[in-house]
Amino acid sequence: MRKVTVIPGDGIGPEVTRAALEVLRAVDAPLEITEAGMGLACYKETGSYLPQATLDRLEESDAALFGAITSPVTYDASYRSPLLHLRKAFDLYANIRPVRRWHPSIGLVDLDVIIVRENTEGMYTGVEREDGEGVVTERRITRRACQRIVDKAIEVCRAEGRRSVTCVHKSNVLRRSDGMFREIFRERMKDSGLEARDLLVDAAAAAMVLQPNKLECLVTLNLYGDILSDEAAALTGGLGFAPSVNLGDRFALFEPTHGSAPDIAGQDRANPVAAILSAAMMLRYLDLAPMAERIERSVTATLGRGIRTADAGGKMGTREFTTRLIEVLGTL
Ligand code: NAI
Ligand code: MG
Repeated sequence: MRKVTVIPGDGIGPEVTRAALEVLRAVDAPLEITEAGMGLACYKETGSYLPQATLDRLEESDAALFGAITSPVTYDASYRSPLLHLRKAFDLYANIRPVRRWHPSIGLVDLDVIIVRENTEGMYTGVEREDGEGVVTERRITRRACQRIVDKAIEVCRAEGRRSVTCVHKSNVLRRSDGMFREIFRERMKDSGLEARDLLVDAAAAAMVLQPNKLECLVTLNLYGDILSDEAAALTGGLGFAPSVNLGDRFALFEPTHGSAPDIAGQDRANPVAAILSAAMMLRYLDLAPMAERIERSVTATLGRGIRTADAGGKMGTREFTTRLIEVLGTL
């Protein structure tokens, strides 16, 4: 039995993780599942956004499945994002988002790409200072982070049978930092047996729309990856279909790309597919690939029968959609 911690979180987080858990149960996944708290509701209940008990539980787990959390709206200098904290504490340096259309009728563009995003540094150092005229933001790129994110992209590409990796950067302007990233990419790719390509980030944003079939796997820095992965999700059906993993060398936290969607929370309107696909990714990580594939096929088959939530032009609520998907799963 693999140990999995589930963190439902806030807003639609509990609704979509409940759906994902039902699907995991339906495939009889050999998992020992425990729940843990994190986020705003947890703070209101316990006084902590990320209690030590949750950290301890994660420490004992093989993987985690996370819904989403709501960030506090008012500025609080002492607030530290629990998700950023987890990424640091477990050194989850790679954010991996496989993006594709789960049915030809969903989405706008035939994009099928794995985005491998550096998750720990770049523009997200959180270090900003006033310099009299305005604010200076510190952006840090280290050799080690570049090396390991490229190596991770190579590993993912091989595992998924992709033939090329495209490095996305802005080295025409950020000559030293992004230039170094690009050079390290070229070096690491040499003996990989994979084709090395590279694109400026603005060209990559256009290529996703105009030449999607040229892109198989993107490896990129933190901010570029954040923006491009939302673009990619939008082109292939929206946030409701976009799974992801925060991956380190000893732990992985799987989560839908979307946030807690307070505008639809508690209304049974959330699309649970991103959470269900994140759970499938988790099964693959836990060496349960056949179960993952079955879940993925059930998503495509369900959408093929016109069964959809409102964001995808359908009429179903979260619960009914999940029930129908599990029925379809039973026929596969
Ligand atoms: P969001 O992703 O929660 O919502 C953006 C829009 O997409 C909303 O209109 C929402 O209704 C819709 N949407 C999102 N997921 C959906 C789903 N599964 N099915 C149907 N519609 C869906 O992003 P937003 O509104 O910027 O942030 C809301 C809260 O979530 C904020 O507190 C933010 O900080 C937090 N957030 C948390 C993340 C996480 O926990 N990893 C990631 C992004 C945002
Ligand atoms: Mg984002």
